Amino acid sequence: MADLTEIRLRVLLVSRRKDMLDSLQALLGRYPGIALERKLVVNGHTDPLHGVAELPDALVLHLGETWQAELEGLSARAADRRPPLVVVGSAADAAAMRLAMQAGARDLLPMPLIAADLVAALKRIERDRQSAAPGRKRATTVFINAKGGCGGTFLACNVAHTLATRFGRRVVLLDLDLQFGTIPVYFDLFPGRGLMQALENVEELDETALDGYLARHPSGVAVLGQAAQDSLPLGGVSLDSVAKLIKLLERTHDHLLIDLPRNLNAMACRVIERAENVALIVQQSVTVLRDAGRLTTCLRRDLTVSSERITTVVNRYDRRSAISAEDIRNTLSCGEPILVPNDYRNVEESITTGQPLLSHGRATSVTKAIQSLAQRLDGESAEDRRGLLARAFSRVARSKST
Ligand SMILES: Nc1ncnc2c1ncn2[C@@H]1O[C@H](COP(=O)(O)OP(=O)(O)OP(=O)(O)O)[C@@H](O)[C@H]1O
Ligand SMILES: [Mg+2]
Repeated sequence: MADLTEIRLRVLLVSRRKDMLDSLQALLGRYPGIALERKLVVNGHTDPLHGVAELPDALVLHLGETWQAELEGLSARAADRRPPLVVVGSAADAAAMRLAMQAGARDLLPMPLIAADLVAALKRIERDRQSAAPGRKRATTVFINAKGGCGGTFLACNVAHTLATRFGRRVVLLDLDLQFGTIPVYFDLFPGRGLMQALENVEELDETALDGYLARHPSGVAVLGQAAQDSLPLGGVSLDSVAKLIKLLERTHDHLLIDLPRNLNAMACRVIERAENVALIVQQSVTVLRDAGRLTTCLRRDLTVSSERITTVVNRYDRRSAISAEDIRNTLSCGEPILVPNDYRNVEESITTGQPLLSHGRATSVTKAIQSLAQRLDGESAEDRRGLLARAFSRVARSKST
């Protein structure tokens, strides 16, 4: 799974120990998108970047015995002469942590180093770089049902509509349910061209040409899904073409919301890995929760999606159910879920008429919950929600308990 990771970074490894550089290089050498350079510090210089002409995209610094001077050396540099930093070593005590933070450390990874933590740290740096790119403001969110019919498509459409109309965002919805996707219908749209045609021509697409494949709802929401006349596709699609299309959609919109079928195939894994947020849609049922548990384990363990990136949404929530929100929190070890009440009449009417709920102008309990979800996705990025200190402390605690 980890080989699917799309990291494109120039990474400089710095240590006073050759064996450490060797093992870091072996670990990161598996990622073709990472261009590695290494620097063995042998002289008396304490600034790890001494003599480095061109700054890398990320610096992985293994702390040596002179760690204090090394971190001070980095702190003394101007902020724009300091690349994003990942510190590897025993920065467990408060003084070392403080110094590491002053030096601009994004992550502190204790020894013995866990490979997945280092990769996740570099992915965060990669994501931040992309977020900082011009034209890229917010985030990509994947909607995935724990079980078919949990409401993923309905919620993706209505969150998109809310982000466009209440938050003034440029929003695009990508329907990656290639065979049975229905997003255009939820907006009463019947496009002549759509996803398949865009994928066929992706090599020639630029931001202007892309527009010809997007169906536009009066609210401003752009939809890329099946064209009305498309027959059921039986073959797969090229992962590279999907990745290119996603990059283009991200460049031209504040929010990209992706409706994924539950089938975790290679395409789904690749899409999930590079999304900032995953909205996992569950309901209060034993079988749904069983599947949700397996899915979250796979997301966290195999796809290295940190818990902070996952927002659990309990759809059709009924507080009289034998399964409470707290049961769900405990079962999935997740944060506070968003509770979307059960409102069959309004929801069904909205889907049947192709009118998003908010366009009725009625504030129902469902629209309020959808606004909370939109707010959460529009806020600071999931990783920002949990700061460096919390991440570092939980790693130290984890390494002590093993
Ligand atoms: N909050 C809700 N209250 C009542 N009914 C709901 C609610 N959310 C969704 N539904 C019902 O659940 C049905 C399925 O939801 P949706 O249309 O989002 O499909 P889906 O879960 O994405 O299905 P699939 O797994 O096939 O992609 C809807 O047709 C609607 O009737
Ligand atoms: Mg669906």
